[in-house]
Amino acid sequence: MRIDVLTLFPEMFESPLAGSILKRAREAGVVDIVLTNIRDFATDNYKKVDDKPYGGGAGMVMMAGPVFDCFEYVEKLADEKGRVVLLSPQGQRFDQRKAAELSEEKRLILISGRYEGFDERIRTGLGAEQISIGDYVLSGGELAAMVIVDAVVRLLAGALGDEDSAKDDSFSDGLLEYPQYTRPEVFRGMKVPDILLSGDHGKIAAWRREQALERTKKQRPDLLK
Ligand code: ADE
Repeated sequence: MRIDVLTLFPEMFESPLAGSILKRAREAGVVDIVLTNIRDFATDNYKKVDDKPYGGGAGMVMMAGPVFDCFEYVEKLADEKGRVVLLSPQGQRFDQRKAAELSEEKRLILISGRYEGFDERIRTGLGAEQISIGDYVLSGGELAAMVIVDAVVRLLAGALGDEDSAKDDSFSDGLLEYPQYTRPEVFRGMKVPDILLSGDHGKIAAWRREQALERTKKQRPDLLK
């Protein structure tokens, strides 16, 4: 997979991309992540990429020109057309299902904005879908883009060391994950449930399913609807 990110703050991505699973996935050639600075496509001497909203109001709006020029440059960097995503609190809510869907694509082009929002012609003109990572407003789309990159890349074949570890994740079957334990067997008087030490794989699987259901009912009843 190839992921292009258009952003005004490419340096924000450095450390998340340099650690753990994302780093390994990039080194293994599972994913190619390319950052392009929208500001490089500003056309005036001040490198201006935002302007006041028509009709008045507080804040600044991302200008269409630099984003379009940046997009057209980035689009040509690879043959694959790519699925174009605008990070915005107005988008559809991101979840594990969406992560799985995006992980099937050969190329993603993520556009993260700043300021009060994008000139509407960016969305309509580029035919971009909007994705939100939750019902709250961030200072920019960068953190949202990183969340999406992380959730998508870990689903790609070869990204995780243990091929099985993504399929048991919370949400992958619509439920929260069952409780996990590791050594020691007793920690400060708290014991690992006997069933996990029983070696009976059938019983363990049934217990885990039951625990996952119970947790989901308690913590996130909305997921069971
Ligand atoms: N930009 C600002 N807030 C956002 C959110 N919640 N999701 C995606 N992009 C955003």
